[in-house]
Order: sequence, then structure tokens, then C-alpha cells
Amino acid sequence: MDQVKLNGGEYVRVEGPAMIEVLRGKLYILGAQYDEGSRITILRARRVVAKAINDTELSVVLGPGGFVDKPKAGEEMIDEWDSKLSMGLKGSVIMVMGAMDSGKTTITTILVNKASSMGLKVGVVDADPGQNDLGPPTTVSCSILKGGKITHLSYMSPVKQVFLGSTNLEGNWYRAVYGVAKLVDYLKNIESVDFIVINTDGWVEGEGAVEYKRALVNAIKPNYVIIMRKSDEVNGLINGLGIGNMLILNAPPSMRIRDRNDRKIHRDMGYGRYLSPSRELTLNLTQVPVVNMPLTGRGLNGNLARLISSYLKVKPIYMDSLKNMVMVVSSMVKEPMLRSIPGGVAVLLQPNWENGLLVGLEDKDGFLITLAVLRRIYYNNGRIVVTVPKRLSNFELNNIRGIRVGSIRVNEQFEEIDKFSVIYKIERIISENGANPLT
Ligand SMILES: Nc1ncnc2c1ncn2[C@@H]1O[C@H](COP(=O)(O)OP(=O)(O)O)[C@@H](O)[C@H]1O
Ligand SMILES: [Mg+2]
Repeated sequence: MDQVKLNGGEYVRVEGPAMIEVLRGKLYILGAQYDEGSRITILRARRVVAKAINDTELSVVLGPGGFVDKPKAGEEMIDEWDSKLSMGLKGSVIMVMGAMDSGKTTITTILVNKASSMGLKVGVVDADPGQNDLGPPTTVSCSILKGGKITHLSYMSPVKQVFLGSTNLEGNWYRAVYGVAKLVDYLKNIESVDFIVINTDGWVEGEGAVEYKRALVNAIKPNYVIIMRKSDEVNGLINGLGIGNMLILNAPPSMRIRDRNDRKIHRDMGYGRYLSPSRELTLNLTQVPVVNMPLTGRGLNGNLARLISSYLKVKPIYMDSLKNMVMVVSSMVKEPMLRSIPGGVAVLLQPNWENGLLVGLEDKDGFLITLAVLRRIYYNNGRIVVTVPKRLSNFELNNIRGIRVGSIRVNEQFEEIDKFSVIYKIERIISENGANPLT
């Protein structure tokens, strides 16, 4: 245990796991004040900077890997950020953007605490499907804080989630725009929150990233966009957004940079933690259809099926259709492909194409009930077997209305092993051709 004495205005940096107790004085952490007697838990690998409001004495208990030190001049950002975060929060929507590890989650947490300390009902949207602090990877989630304060977003429990199907938004960002807009709409109109802060993903560089962020701003129309700047990586974004209500904050210096592998491990643990302990669940496709593939369980038979399979020169195990799209499963197919056919598009899939795909089980409004893993489809009777968390209640199970297929394949240990990227194209074709049924 460390005893730390601080004069008013001094800083201390704590990396978790750690437990801080305020023995005397007053401490300021992430936009919230902690009085004498308060205990504050900092999670593993999370680093916070605290400021003493007056003469303060702390006891800090560190877990393995935790540390406590005093930041050098220029290493802490509290005052610089606070002096610029003076906009009115009540009634507004703020969106936070920036590269990975630029401080987005930290700023989001500060805004949540500030608004909560003003007595506002606060809505948070976490739109980072790779490092989602509220829900599991591959989702965007929202949560609500009414009173109280937090040291990390993960202390809030998710209220609604939308399944995106991937942790990577390249090629799939239109779904994220839809999901974030849906959550904001829910927070505003169903929950009537007083303030919304939206945390986004770290994809900020390049044309695609700017196009995505611009679409997000156009769909949500936030009152302010906060951009975290490390150096010139956000220049394209700043110019490309072309909006006036932008606030640019400096990112914290000298941080531990998480590498790609670290993040993948974090996600693998995310799926495993979420899905275990697990069990199998059998659904009936005619009652719970796949919403983003031509897979209805009804099958496509007869003359049209024969015509299409001979046109494609494949011997089908199963055929199905939705709108102007046809699905053909055949052992002559080795990997997923799209082929155009007269009047529509066919997706050709190999047997077992489904095994291990991450899917979202959705309710009637399209919100996620649970992540699941697709195991097997029995075409003869329209049954679909998925792995779900054991903890699901009957209420949740009874509300499942749709299956949304994602683009990530996992193994038995829930580790990412493969991509099923064709799903984006399938989803787009189905959603763009609503009024042109093939049959
Ligand atoms: N007040 C502060 N001063 C300096 N560094 C800070 C401060 N608050 C947080 N940090 C550091 O900034 C890092 C930013 O992390 P985070 O907010 O998770 O970024 P992002 O969400 O953009 O990936 C944290 O790991 C922490 O080390
Ligand atoms: Mg973050």
C-alpha cells in the first residue's frame, strides 16, 4: 500500500489495477469530485490522472502491474481539457473522434461525469465496435447514467445494442451509421435523456474514414464534434468534415500503444467472456429468419430453381431466395461468390459455409438480444443451431425475431479465424432492392 500526499493543484497518475481511498481532502478524477472516505477502483491497464483539489492524502493499493507516480510537466491533460470543455451540455449531443489511444474514451467519461454532476440524465453511445467499452465487440451500444459518477465506461451496463457484424468498419460503415442513429433516436425519444455523448472508433485516416465520419455527422447532426489530435493524422478529417462546431483537443503524450495483436486478444477474450458458459439453441428459420441473407427456410424449388441452377451450372444441395437474390449451396463451390443471373444476383456457398460465423440474434425492433455463433443449418427441416450464452433468460429467448449474420468466423475457443466478407455485399444487395422480388 502506498500513501500519497498531494498539495492542492498537484497531480498523481495511477495505472490499474488499483484501489484509491481518499483519506483526507478532495480529489478530481475524470470530471468528477471525490470527497474524504471515497474509494475509487481503477481497472487493469487503465491509466488515470487525478488532481488534488486541496491538500489531500490518499492510500493506494496496487494489484499486479499497477503503479502510481507523479506526471512530469506536460504529461497530463486535465487542465488543458477542462479549460476547453466549457460548452453547455444540457440538451446537446457531442460526438468524440480521434485515432486509437488519443483519449476518446477518457473524454467521453469526463463528459458523462460532468453532465451527471449537473443532475442531467446522461446517454452514452459507444460506437467503437473493436474496443467497445459498454458491449461486446462487433456492436455499438448505449447506456444511461442518472446520478453518480464512473471511472470507466465499462462500469455502465448496456441498455440497447445494435449488431454490426464486424469490428472493422471499412466496407461496412453504412451499418454503423444506421446503428448509431438508431441508438441516438432511442435515447432521445424513448429515454428522454438530457445529454448524449457519442464515442467513435479510431479509424480517422484516409478517404473511407472521412466519408464514414461525414455520414455519421450528417445522420446525427451533433451540436459539437470533439476531435482528439496527436499530430497531423486528423488533418484530413478536420478538413473533410467541413463543419463549424468542431473542438480540437490535444491527445495525451507518451502513452503505451496497444498493438494489433493485443487488441485481437482483447477481442477474443471479449467473445469468449461474452459467450461462456454457453449452450446450444435450435431455432426454426420460418419463425426466426435470417434478415440479411436470402435464407428464409422456405427453400426455392421447382422450375425456377432448375432454371437458375442450370444457368449457374451447379448441382445444388439447397436453394433459397429473398427479393431479387438467390442463395445456392453446392459442394461444387469452394468459396463464397456472387454471380449475376437474369433478374437478380445469386450467392454461391460451399457446404458448411455457416460453421463458426458470429451472428446477432435480434428483437422485433432490430436491437441485439445476444451474440451467438452459427453451428449448423439443417436444410431439410429449416432448423438452425447456434451457440448462445447459458445465462439468457426465457424472456430474452422468446423475443428473438431475427438472425443477422456477421463477417467474423470463430473457432471452438471463440478466437477469430476467418472472414466472411461477402456478407456486406449480400446485405447491400438485399437492402437496395427492396421492391423488386424475383419470385
Ligand atoms: N488526464 C490525463 N493526462 C494524460 N494522459 C491521460 C489522461 N487521462 C488519460 N490519459 C491517458 O490517455 C490514454 C488514452 O486512452 P483512451 O481514452 O482509452 O483513448 P482512446 O479511447 O482514444 O483509444 C489512457 O490510456 C491514459 O494513459
Ligand atoms: Mg476508446
